[in-house]
Amino acid sequence: MKNLKIFIVLSLAGIFWTGCGRKEKPPSYPPYNPTPYELTLPFKFPEFEIPPGSELTEEGIALGRELFYDPILSVDSTLACAGCHKAQEGFSDSNFRSEGVGGTLGKRQAMPVMNLAWGEKFFWDGRANSIAHQVLFPVEDPLEMKSDWTNIEDRLNLHKDYPAKFYAAFGTDKITKELVGKAIAQFERTMISGNSKHDAVLENLAFFTPSEQRGFELFNTEEADCFHCHGGALFTDNLFHNNGLDSVYTDIGLAGVTGRGVDTGYFKTPSLRNLIFTAPYMHDGRFKTLEEVVDHYSEGLINSPYIDPLMLFANEGGVHLSEQQKRDLVAYLKTLTDTSFINNPAFQNPFK
Ligand code: HEC
Ligand code: HEC
Repeated sequence: MKNLKIFIVLSLAGIFWTGCGRKEKPPSYPPYNPTPYELTLPFKFPEFEIPPGSELTEEGIALGRELFYDPILSVDSTLACAGCHKAQEGFSDSNFRSEGVGGTLGKRQAMPVMNLAWGEKFFWDGRANSIAHQVLFPVEDPLEMKSDWTNIEDRLNLHKDYPAKFYAAFGTDKITKELVGKAIAQFERTMISGNSKHDAVLENLAFFTPSEQRGFELFNTEEADCFHCHGGALFTDNLFHNNGLDSVYTDIGLAGVTGRGVDTGYFKTPSLRNLIFTAPYMHDGRFKTLEEVVDHYSEGLINSPYIDPLMLFANEGGVHLSEQQKRDLVAYLKTLTDTSFINNPAFQNPFK
């Protein structure tokens, strides 16, 4: 009996000993001292709040940008976030429904990654509560990156570069999905578009053509009545509305998240900046052109018990614009184009 005890003690010591012996020396990183990043907002843009602990740093933003462009987040390392949020397509996808890993088609149209810092809820149906929370979804979505976070966390922790980069950004090299979310969120908060002709006109640096000017006035009065939901510098109230696309719903939108019947057919108001890059339009990509969108608001509204009270002309089927007014409105919408945003070197693929 005594011998057995000694044997057990010795073998435990042995396990302990070899355990320690095998343990690698922890890597030594330069001291944790991230560089704060100062963001300058475009003219007339409101301030936004950054949640405590998510302050912008050069290291965090650079890491987020790499993760955004790295297919390592998908099951077979073939598809990055940027695969569906392409710079030249306004960080959205001009395909009708994006292709996930293996070519499966998504259920909704991709949304542009732009001016997210002011948002509170993300996705067409608002199922994500913060920018960092949003990041958790596509990685595990069976129609998108088809992976699982345990696998991705392992992969990143074993990677030759990422642990050091997470240490530089967050003071720890234990990579978790939450930190991946925080890093990508930092990068996304810097992706601000506010340098269009419309902005230059507000700053008295440019002039609208007469047609654009008429479109601007239609947009901002009850004549076309767009400003109620797409007003302000962001061209979205960041809220949810039913804009009269359907009376029978295959996609109930916000109601699927809140469980409230009154939210049926409510979707997040998209920004109207950079529309010329982000076609097709609406949550299901049903409209290919801005002319089709304007026709919808002009005479295509479908009245239903769920339509938003802010669709002031729901009973009349729309705002009823003349052909000239439609052209003017489209001309104005095109002044919201910001090529400096999609071409900004800071937002391009860092691996190229
Ligand atoms: C397969 C294509 C695809 C991939 C890959 C993908 N997305 Fe998306 N993204 C979409 C689609 C489609 C939507 C809208 C889905 C919905 O609302 O249900 C969306 C929505 C979003 C939104 C919401 C924007 C808003 O205004 O609410 C953000 C932010 C976003 N994606 C960022 C990312 C990030 C970060 C990654 C990588 C971790 C990623 N996406 C990977 C297709 C994709
Ligand atoms: C009651 C609020 C409301 C009003 C008023 C409104 N919209 Fe919208 N708009 C929305 C919502 C919500 C969506 C997304 C709907 C969806 O996809 O189901 C949307 C989508 C759009 C889109 C598609 C953008 C994209 O990225 O897919 C365009 C373009 C647009 N609206 C332009 C206009 C114009 C022009 C007017 C005025 C004629 C207008 N909207 C009036 C709420 C509104």
